[in-house]
Amino acid sequence: MKRTLVIVGASYAGVQLAASARELGFDGRIVLLGDEPDAPYQRPPLSKGFLTGSVAEARLPLRSQVFFDEEKIEWMPSTRAIRIDRERREIGLHDGSRIAYDHVALTTGARVRKLDCPGAALDAVHYLRDLRDARRLAQTACTARRAVVIGGGYIGLEAAASLRQQGVDVTVVETEPRLLARVASPWISDFMLRAHVERGVAFECGRKVVALHDAYGIVSVELDNGTRLLCDLVVVGIGVIPNTELAADCGLHVQGGITVDACARTSDPRIVAAGDCASFVPHWALPDARACRIESVQNANDMAKTAAASILGRSEPYRAVPWFWSDQYDLKLQMAGVNTGFNDYAVRGSVEERKCSLFYFRGKTLIAVDSINRPQDHMLARKLLASGAHVLADEVRDPAFDLKSLASGDMHAARGAV
Ligand code: NAI
Repeated sequence: MKRTLVIVGASYAGVQLAASARELGFDGRIVLLGDEPDAPYQRPPLSKGFLTGSVAEARLPLRSQVFFDEEKIEWMPSTRAIRIDRERREIGLHDGSRIAYDHVALTTGARVRKLDCPGAALDAVHYLRDLRDARRLAQTACTARRAVVIGGGYIGLEAAASLRQQGVDVTVVETEPRLLARVASPWISDFMLRAHVERGVAFECGRKVVALHDAYGIVSVELDNGTRLLCDLVVVGIGVIPNTELAADCGLHVQGGITVDACARTSDPRIVAAGDCASFVPHWALPDARACRIESVQNANDMAKTAAASILGRSEPYRAVPWFWSDQYDLKLQMAGVNTGFNDYAVRGSVEERKCSLFYFRGKTLIAVDSINRPQDHMLARKLLASGAHVLADEVRDPAFDLKSLASGDMHAARGAV
């Protein structure tokens, strides 16, 4: 009898996992459960082109229906898994029906963290995670004049840039003293702050929102220093919470995410997990580092491939170089590697022209590269990091140094060219 793989969650990780399972030769039934009504779609444009109107909804689907049909992937929209019975090997759905499984993949993602203060439920308050949020926000943004963005992470800054490009006055409120504190170096935080300020965005960093008020249609956001910011739109991007309930309720190990090993396997050999919901110790982590989740499209896709291989009994540790990007105004920020624990950095290119890359070192080891409008550096950085090539900070600073040859493994040409 053919086996059944049930994938819970139909976003990047879920769709990739289904595709990879087929590619690797899984010839059983693949059921892809998604609790949203829309066909799986790209999320990055939601805070960028979709919000400014330059990317139409028709361009968002991740894969066409033809793909699902041809690959015999049974995508089930508006279908919520509510229970996993590991003894009977059945998944219970919201409508009372059940699906028997041989393998389960949990790609349940994460949901937005909600603001928790008086007035948080006002109509003017928007979040930005799924397509329904984005449709509602895009519609409101057309007529908005003043917006307060709560959270200076990627959602907050991309939304701020998109709104600003539509002529909306924007103030960003961030609890930390600097922007992007969770994910970027102080240099990048400072660079992005200046880029936004030059385009007219105001900032309240190191401030907490204590309440939101609506007085006869005039909304105000009250900060902990008594300031009240008047606006007609509030966008909240204060992080996400992993969807781990299904895993925890059936007794899988969960700690800040669904715990998986280097091959994306949970504590049950029949169940894998991948993407935003999965917690693991990455190959690049410092010794004694705790497990963590990585919230990115790259991680969702690459981890899903690892998980699919594990289902087929071909487990191989997940070792991809992490990378990430963000578009704000005319700035393309691309990050490769993780700069945790860096103690030196070198800048290549021109900061003034906004075309530069920062190479981060821990000791003498290159650990990460952030590029601003230097896509070629980013691609080279991913190669350098994957191969563990040795490069010095002084070489990086030298515009004549041939990074391309080094990235292709030709150390002699790279160093001979200087
Ligand atoms: P985040 O965790 O990256 O940033 C949230 C920010 O809000 C942090 O700077 C935090 O200090 C701040 N914050 C937390 N509570 C606050 C409060 N009460 N008031 C003011 N500030 C507060 O999460 P974010 O930006 O919401 O993004 C959610 C997810 O979406 C992340 O995984 C992010 O990486 C992802 N994303 C990816 C993008 C891309 O691929 N370019 C673009 C946008 C989001």
